[in-house]
Order: sequence, then structure tokens, then C-alpha cells
Amino acid sequence: MAKNVLIVDDESSIRQTLTAALQDEGYQVQSAQNGAEALAITEKSGPDLVLLDIWMPGVDGIEVLKRIKELRTDTVVIMMSGHGTIETAVRATKLGAFDFIEKPLSLERLLVLLQNARSTQDLARENTALRRQLQKERTLIGDSSVMQQARDIIKRVAPTTGSVLITGENGTGKELIAHAIHTHSPRFNKPFIEVNCAAIPEELIESELFGHEKGSFTGATGQKKGKFDLANGGTLFLDEIGDMSFKTQAKILRILQEQKFERVGGNQTIQTDVRVLAATNKDLKQAIKNGSFREDLYHRLNVIPFYLQPLRDRKGDTEQLALHFLKEFSNTHGKPVRPLTKEALAALNSYSWPGNVRELRNMIERIVILTPEADFNNSVLASEVLQFLTDQFMTESSEATTPPGFSTDLKTLRDARDAFEKVFIQKSLEENSWNVSKTAQTLGIERSHLHKKIKAYGLE
Ligand SMILES: Nc1ncnc2c1ncn2[C@@H]1O[C@H](COP(=O)(O)OP(=O)(O)OP(=O)(O)O)[C@@H](O)[C@H]1O
Ligand SMILES: [Mg+2]
Repeated sequence: MAKNVLIVDDESSIRQTLTAALQDEGYQVQSAQNGAEALAITEKSGPDLVLLDIWMPGVDGIEVLKRIKELRTDTVVIMMSGHGTIETAVRATKLGAFDFIEKPLSLERLLVLLQNARSTQDLARENTALRRQLQKERTLIGDSSVMQQARDIIKRVAPTTGSVLITGENGTGKELIAHAIHTHSPRFNKPFIEVNCAAIPEELIESELFGHEKGSFTGATGQKKGKFDLANGGTLFLDEIGDMSFKTQAKILRILQEQKFERVGGNQTIQTDVRVLAATNKDLKQAIKNGSFREDLYHRLNVIPFYLQPLRDRKGDTEQLALHFLKEFSNTHGKPVRPLTKEALAALNSYSWPGNVRELRNMIERIVILTPEADFNNSVLASEVLQFLTDQFMTESSEATTPPGFSTDLKTLRDARDAFEKVFIQKSLEENSWNVSKTAQTLGIERSHLHKKIKAYGLE
């Protein structure tokens, strides 16, 4: 896209020459002959770039720069300095000017400068957009008392440097909580560094965490900073801490106590300031009993325990999350957002979500992707949810004998589907005060068909 440049100079010959030259280069150009005019234009049309003369009668360039920066933080300003104003120009860069160029102007230099300014601006804008996007994706959804409590804890622990041990089943949102603690802490614009302790091979974990010096082992071709270095001043998130080896646990403990460490193959002690968050879906107390987790490390990490309840125990969250994911995935896949029927919601609530929020999220994405275009004006139906849950059961039951989502001791797929269908139909009937026609309609099946099912399951 063509960039919009504003030229501010009291000399009309400069304005004219620059306007013509920059238009030739494909810029959209506006010009102002004094500070007041420049500010009026900035306020109205927000130029991408400003070429600003320092010495002008009336409001001078420095003052104009300050106000432009207040009006439009991402406008890039290049100062033009005449003879004897270089010092002022240097001062201007401290006030937020991108750079300065001396008069008489070299057009060649000016074009290079503008090109650099554009790239920097594009990167900065992209960065801001990405950050915003990430922030949005990391919003914690849910108003259940569990989630309200979680938010409350986040608010209270974020300002401190205390270690937090986040526990909970798979997919409950532990990583999201860790991010939230970081973003609400005074360290929010310092790095958030994540280490997945389960994913790093044992022999590499020390080098990953502490870094190494050149030549410290075969393959160490240069010095490498470790995660503790990278997280300095910020937050280090030790994910899947229950999978860390006993030996590494001892090293971690020492860092946590002393806030210093040495790189692999190095003898210099490095001081570090990191706030540590850890997460696991393992039962660490049990691991301590088994002798696979150090008790002293456990206490050091568990200064603030944060247990995240499974989705099935959070009344109300399933609906809010489902609607949120419907919106999210409809947007990403460019489809209209469909509402959920009451029955679809009932089906969601009748399931126990062994994979928690992640499982729900994947299910919704699948429904959004698989729905034929023609059905997009309709609601999400119970039949789609049921289909998903049955499929889910089929894949799970091929791996395990008891599907985790279904509590009863079921032997075959047929049993499971029937058990699920029975509970589901019963719930729908109750919600419709046992009115068969109405229930059949909301379930999207024939009345006679529903009658047969009621009889077969002995629901009368
Ligand atoms: N309250 C929530 N609001 C919105 N999205 C959520 C929420 N909780 C979890 N999610 C989403 O569910 C998915 C799983 O969450 P996350 O990775 O934080 O879980 P986890 O507890 O770390 O899982 P695991 O134990 O498997 O590592 C992610 O896509 C996350 O964005
Ligand atoms: Mg996780």
C-alpha cells in the first residue's frame, strides 16, 4: 500500500521539490508550511511518515515532533536540520524521531532513509497486530465460580515473584493460566519463556536450560544461551514438570534457591532474575512417594498451588466456551457463526470431557469444518454433537477398553452409544416436560422413531 508522507517546511521551494520527487517514487504526499498546519493534518489524516523541518517560525520542529508523537504513536518522523541545528536533531531522536537528515538534502539519502523508516514501521505494526491477536487467543473464557476464582487468584499472585505450581487434568487450560499470570505481572513486557520438560531429551535438557559454552560437548559449535538466560527479568514456565529427570530436578532446585547457575562447560557463575511457573497433570505427591520427584523441589515450586478443575465440574463454562470456539473457528474458516440449539447444549453437558477444554475446542472446530455450506444458516444440532461423541468413542475404544468419557463399564461400541443415547433422550424429554412431539422435533427425529427408542430404553 502507498505510504502517506507529510512534508513540513516553511520554505515553499523545498515543499515543491520534495512533493514532486516523492510522488514520483509512489508516495502519497501532503505538505504543511508551519507547525500548526502540520498538527491539523496529522490529527485529521494520520500520515505514516513525516519529514519535519527543525527551524520554523512559530511552533518549532521539536515541539511539533512531541505533539505528533502524542497524537499518533506509530507515525514515523524524520527531522530535517539546517546548518547549526544538528545538536537539536540528535536531541530529537531521543524524543522519538526515527532519524534526521541534513540540509541541503540529498534526494538519494532521503529515499534510503524513507525506505528504512517504512520497513521499521511495517515490522512494528505487524508486531502490534500479532501481539493483539495472541492476546485475544489467550483470553480466559468462562464465568463459572471456578473460573472467577481462578481470575481472582491470578490477580493476587501476578504482582508477586512467588512460584506457582499449576495442576489439573489434560487440556484444562494450565498453559493459558501461566500466560495470564505473566501478562498481569510487572514483568509483562519482559520475555515469557516456555520449557516443555517432557519434550526435551534427557541428555540435552541441561544445555537447554542453562546454555553451553563453545566446545563443551560434541556438537556445541558455539556458545548458546539457555532458557534461564533468555528469561532473565521475565517468567520461565516449566511445563510438564512431572516428567523431568531426578538429576535435572536437583539443578533446578539450586537455581531456584540461589538465582544463579553455570552454563554447561563453563565456570562463570551467572546471576539471573526469573519468576518460575510450573505445570503438570501428574500427581506429584504420588511421584514423591514413588521416589521419582524430589520433595524439596516440590515445596519450592508449590509456594502457590493452583489447581484447575476439570471442565465437567465447571457449570456454565461449557456453553460459553462452545460459543466462543464457534465464533473463533467460523471466523478462521470464513463461515457464518451458527447458534447452538438447546439440545446440542444438553448433549455437550451430558458428556464428561476427559480431554477437557482442548477436546471441546477440537470438537467445535471439526463441526465447523465438516458442516456443508448449505447448513450454515441453521443452528448446531444435537445430532452433530452426538455424531462427534460417538466417533470420539469409537477411536478411544479402539485404544482402551473403557472409554474415559463414559463412566459405565461398557463392553461394545453399541452398548456405549445406547447408554449415551438413553441418557441424552431422557434429558431432552425432561426438558420438554415429556412431550414426545416436541422432543422429537428438537432432536430432529421422527415422532414414531422416538417412541421406539423410549420403549427400547424403558424410559416411560
Ligand atoms: N478458559 C479457557 N478459555 C479459552 N480457551 C481455553 C480455556 N482453557 C483452555 N483453553 C484452550 O484449550 C486448549 C488447551 O489449553 P492448555 O494448553 O492451556 O491446557 P493444558 O492444561 O496446558 O493442557 P496439557 O495438560 O495437555 O498440557 C488451548 O487451545 C487453550 O487455548
Ligand atoms: Mg499444557
